[in-house]
Amino acid sequence: MKKIFIFDTTLRDGEQSPGASLSSQGKIQIAIQLAKLGVDVIEAGFPIVSEDDANAVKTISKEVKGPSICALARCIKKDIDCALKSLETSQKPRIHLFLATSEIHRKYKFGKAKSEIIRIAKESVNYAKKYISEIEFSPEDATRTEKDFLLEVCQTVINEGANIINIPDSVGYALPEEFGQLIGFLKNNLDEKIILSIHCHNDLGLAVANSIAGIINGATQVECTINGLGERAGNASLEEIVMNLVVRKDYFGIETNIKTEEIYRTSKLVSSLTGIMVQPNKAIVGENAFRHEAGIHQDGILKNRATYEIMNPQMVGIPESQLVLGKHSGRHAMQNKLKQIGFNIEEEKIDKIFERFKQLADKKKDITDMDLIVIAEEETISTISVYTLEYFHTISGSSTIPTATVRLKKGNDLFEDASRGDGPVDAIYKTIDKITGCNPVLKEYKINAVTGGQDAQGEVIISLIIDKVNFIGKGVSTDIIEASAKAYLNAINMYFSKKNIFKKG
Ligand code: KIV
Ligand code: ZN
Repeated sequence: MKKIFIFDTTLRDGEQSPGASLSSQGKIQIAIQLAKLGVDVIEAGFPIVSEDDANAVKTISKEVKGPSICALARCIKKDIDCALKSLETSQKPRIHLFLATSEIHRKYKFGKAKSEIIRIAKESVNYAKKYISEIEFSPEDATRTEKDFLLEVCQTVINEGANIINIPDSVGYALPEEFGQLIGFLKNNLDEKIILSIHCHNDLGLAVANSIAGIINGATQVECTINGLGERAGNASLEEIVMNLVVRKDYFGIETNIKTEEIYRTSKLVSSLTGIMVQPNKAIVGENAFRHEAGIHQDGILKNRATYEIMNPQMVGIPESQLVLGKHSGRHAMQNKLKQIGFNIEEEKIDKIFERFKQLADKKKDITDMDLIVIAEEETISTISVYTLEYFHTISGSSTIPTATVRLKKGNDLFEDASRGDGPVDAIYKTIDKITGCNPVLKEYKINAVTGGQDAQGEVIISLIIDKVNFIGKGVSTDIIEASAKAYLNAINMYFSKKNIFKKG
């Protein structure tokens, strides 16, 4: 059966989603999960943008085995050098060069003639080829570029050694039929040894449809992001493309290397680390994607699931929300359950997770897979904890001034303080600011119930601006004030671990 390569751009194009923020640590966690998911290529970043971006590409290159690791570069020598440097430790490095080719870009962005664009593309690929064998080239805004000129650019860079040609619909302008024809035209006219790739944006909501049209017409690599994240309306969603190919294998006859059971976990991880929630009706990974509300549908499902389900939630790794463990379950049972849901956690971390599990079991009767997942994620993915929350106490009510007392631990030192606020959460945040000496601006605060029921755990995701940088923090607890405090501290810890500032409290 034919295979198509999955090139994930969540860490690059996806990271550019307005409102998203990813720390280097978050990027590495996502890259590890993407490797588990089975993507063929990870675009780890655009190293010239900042030292942080370059470091993330370096670390991913060193630590993530399996997929090719790719770095983005404009057709500029300093970009290429920087990308090559950040890929030095990768076993399977790839550089991705891009240059806009459409008339509107040539005229307004560059003020350059077609011949100049050809020259720059040619020289850049020629230069990079001296140092790296795998070169991907993207004529940016390809779908608004004259067809004959697009072909000329592609042929030029192939002659210089580019082995992957990626056709981006950079502004989401193409229609499926049109995009399919363009890919068919290039497939027929370009060297058949190259990998022909597609990269679709979602401005008109057609990114996945266009990608599918590209695949039908001969593309052998598809670029996409988890949860469809990306600039403006986003990019083509990985999970939607892959599940189209899986569910309609009868039609496409095409396979990928994706382990579909890892899709849901990857989606959750990306959502919690970027702070961008998934809309409930999002195909494949949305909360409602497998829910049946209408009576007629429920009746059909009870008689035969296939009446209203073309795939089942287990195929994409959605845990059944069954009762898993309770107050009397032991460490071993919990560890087994974690393994079953796919977490391979080092022994040292199990103790802490078990302690949290026991605390939760005291407060919450039914502990589900989702409950366990959020605890495991929090304990395994968190940043270096510069400060930990030892204790908090709040007073609030309609006729009293909200006040909070907080005790934090840093190393072996304890710090305690108190403040008033507009509410108990605000009072806690002001106290944490006093102790840590941080003065963040709270940009966003979101709260979500992890599972249903009155005793559900609350998951708080916040976004803080500290020294002009955005930090996302996450906290989980059955007590929403505690979850709020933990999320705030998590973001502040990210800031400290990034800056390596260990201010005396
Ligand atoms: O959308 C786009 O054109 C891109 C290129 C860098 C491939 O993201
Ligand atoms: Zn793009």
